[in-house]
Amino acid sequence: MPTVLHVDSSPPLAKPPSPAISPANSPSNGRPPTHGNIITRDLTTTTISSVSAAWIAAVHTPADALTPAQKDLLSLSDTLIAKLFTADEFVFGVPMHNFGVPSVLKLWIDQIARANKTFSYATGSPVGLLTGKKATLLIATGGNYDAGTAKASYNFVEPYLRTVLGFVGVTDVTAIVAGGTAALNYGADRPTFLKPHVEAVRATFQAG
Ligand SMILES: Cc1cc2nc3c(=O)[nH]c(=O)nc-3n(C[C@H](O)[C@H](O)[C@H](O)COP(=O)(O)O)c2cc1C
Repeated sequence: MPTVLHVDSSPPLAKPPSPAISPANSPSNGRPPTHGNIITRDLTTTTISSVSAAWIAAVHTPADALTPAQKDLLSLSDTLIAKLFTADEFVFGVPMHNFGVPSVLKLWIDQIARANKTFSYATGSPVGLLTGKKATLLIATGGNYDAGTAKASYNFVEPYLRTVLGFVGVTDVTAIVAGGTAALNYGADRPTFLKPHVEAVRATFQAG
């Protein structure tokens, strides 16, 4: 049974627009219980500091020269990276925020993209070290950014996540996008709107 790491970045709302899409909001649809051993990292309840000068210095200090304070500074990053290596698969629940990923997800990315931990330039070109793993992106956007439409280039969520994941070695990435969730705020029937997305999520996990 695979170990699946869920990284959730959707703030829990009283009436979330896309409960069936983000596994944080609807485990039964996003992750069938038989799918694997689930580890959850809820970024809306994880405190992650932004990258500081001291953190950068610690990252560039050889492991055997780290001070206790520097080890402390890197401990969350070390923990988050260890979880990535433990998992066989990743599931990211990602709402679009201002055309990109939520800031908490960016903070998480800054902690897990680390030289000689998740990528290496040892050969001169970048090599991702998280190999043999796959990721599913469950993306929800208020508007529509379908390929070929005028607003497609506004979408920095899926292209960015594919780039970052590929950089650290995860190239087997499936994206399931629930576009146009704003319609739910303007009277669209919820079950009807969500049905194709819920089915796409189910089909992906059953196929996997
Ligand atoms: C702070 C914030 C910024 C948002 N920015 C955008 C945006 O730039 N484009 C868009 O289409 N939707 C935007 N939305 C709408 C969300 O992407 C949409 O409601 C989505 O369904 C949220 O997913 P969730 O239900 O999984 O949290 C924004 C929502 C919030 C709360």
